[in-house]
Amino acid sequence: MNRAELPIGVFDSGVGGLTVLHECLVSLPAEDFLYLGDSGHFPYGTKPVAELRDRAGAIATQLLQRGVKMLVIACNSATAAAGDEIRQLGAEAGVPVVTVVGPEAEIAASISGSGRVGVLATPATVDSGAYRRALDDLGRPLTVTEVAAPDLAPIIQNGPTFDEEVLGLVRGYCQPLSEAGIDTLILGCTHYPLVAPMLQRMLGRDVSLVTAGHAIAAAIQRELAASGELAESEGEGDYRFLVSGDVGTFVEVGTRFLQLPLAGRAEKVRI
Ligand code: DGL
Repeated sequence: MNRAELPIGVFDSGVGGLTVLHECLVSLPAEDFLYLGDSGHFPYGTKPVAELRDRAGAIATQLLQRGVKMLVIACNSATAAAGDEIRQLGAEAGVPVVTVVGPEAEIAASISGSGRVGVLATPATVDSGAYRRALDDLGRPLTVTEVAAPDLAPIIQNGPTFDEEVLGLVRGYCQPLSEAGIDTLILGCTHYPLVAPMLQRMLGRDVSLVTAGHAIAAAIQRELAASGELAESEGEGDYRFLVSGDVGTFVEVGTRFLQLPLAGRAEKVRI
């Protein structure tokens, strides 16, 4: 089979990576996508590094065995814990790996006027220091304020409820960012763009929110164009889902987020 015809493999702990998939479906409409949502093992953000490495390694192996022309880690926690290992697995299979973290750090460093940048992410991502390193490596002196939000991805994945309790919790996450006077916030978890309006209201319009999706889609485009592996067909590509948790719930939530039909395109997978 011509490699250009293979799907692009994308994975996350659940529905968060759909924010990346959405940008890919818009920017690369002719490509086929195979998305693996590891919702049976959600959340990743409060798991130890060793467990995240095992999960990410098993998922990457599964996608590579099914045949993908590229692997996209659409999860910051998995990238922070296992990005290097997955890049290595990809290299052994001759499959390029695109990850989050680096692209958002680059955007944030380039658009921040004051140099005061915030990162809102899961405990696993904050504890890994991945964003601090990525921002440091860009060579621009920045004041970085990181906040770990252990409850935010679960609130989003389990069906966002925007009651006073949730608002109070999220205000608590935003407070140190506002106090630090940031002008740019990296949404360091792929679930968070789904609640961008709430965050924007709490932080104010002057704070720019940086998400990964658009930059990831551009990186995939560049990489596939360079290797001559962009899909050649003119029409819209296919998109399918593998789900380790409850398929019905994933389909329901995913249909709402992607505004595309997922029914009949998702199957249970054991990893
Ligand atoms: N969407 C994921 C991330 O980007 C993980 C959230 C979670 O599973 O806790 O970190």
